[in-house]
Amino acid sequence: MIETYSLAQLPADLSPHTLPKHIAVIMDGNGRWAKSRGFPRIAGHRQGAKTLKALLRCCKDWGIPALTAYAFSTENWQRPLQEVEFLMRLFERLLQRELDEMIREGVKISFVGNLSALSESLQHQIERAVNTTAHNQAVHLTIAMNYGSRAELTQVCRRIAEQVQQGQLQVQAVNEALIEEHLYTAGSPDPDLLIRTSGEQRVSNYLLWQLAYTELYFTDTLWPDFDRAALHQALIYFQGRDRRFGKIPSSLSA
Ligand code: FPP
Repeated sequence: MIETYSLAQLPADLSPHTLPKHIAVIMDGNGRWAKSRGFPRIAGHRQGAKTLKALLRCCKDWGIPALTAYAFSTENWQRPLQEVEFLMRLFERLLQRELDEMIREGVKISFVGNLSALSESLQHQIERAVNTTAHNQAVHLTIAMNYGSRAELTQVCRRIAEQVQQGQLQVQAVNEALIEEHLYTAGSPDPDLLIRTSGEQRVSNYLLWQLAYTELYFTDTLWPDFDRAALHQALIYFQGRDRRFGKIPSSLSA
């Protein structure tokens, strides 16, 4: 008899003590998923959004406190106008439709990226979602929207340079902690694990500073198919890594 197992709780072969505290995802392969089924690309994005929601619930169930998802990059504006417009409508609709459930589930929602370039109505939904979930604690969802790491770091440099120019800051005071204070992600822990789906092995201008010591996991699974079993595999990989942060292996340190 084939033994079936439930993934409602943390699978027994994973240790609850060494789970990532923060997972970042690049949700790639929506278009290919749709195309392989004869659907328009936008159907892949719609399904991808359902996958993200299911993954968030799984993080909550399994005790992973933070998930950051790359929803729209600064480069994504170059996609066909119709697709960009669809994505913007989808983001807005999801924020409207899912907010009550997110509040009930204790999800704290944050955004990173240049939000000022988004439509006013989307910015309004974003503000509403962020404000009404600010004190939730069950799981923290960060959405990278109109996000690009190089733009983020350029903005940090500009702000720090301005402070130096105005005499508010000494050059010697510019250090890693100060740079971190100016990042969109200020105050949040760096990701422990990055997952990119669909066989691509790039970080695509995503959290370049924050990924300095992150474990990278690439899978051929297309994003809409990335389910609990797929996360389980990624976590097995993660727990098999010896995270050294530049030090010597723990087995040699005695
Ligand atoms: C990349 O796949 C996917 C995107 C650019 C959009 C991702 C957005 C969602 C899944 C919706 C999530 C919603 C919220 C509110 C966060 P692709 O189109 O590049 O796929 P392809 O490589 O197969 O063409």
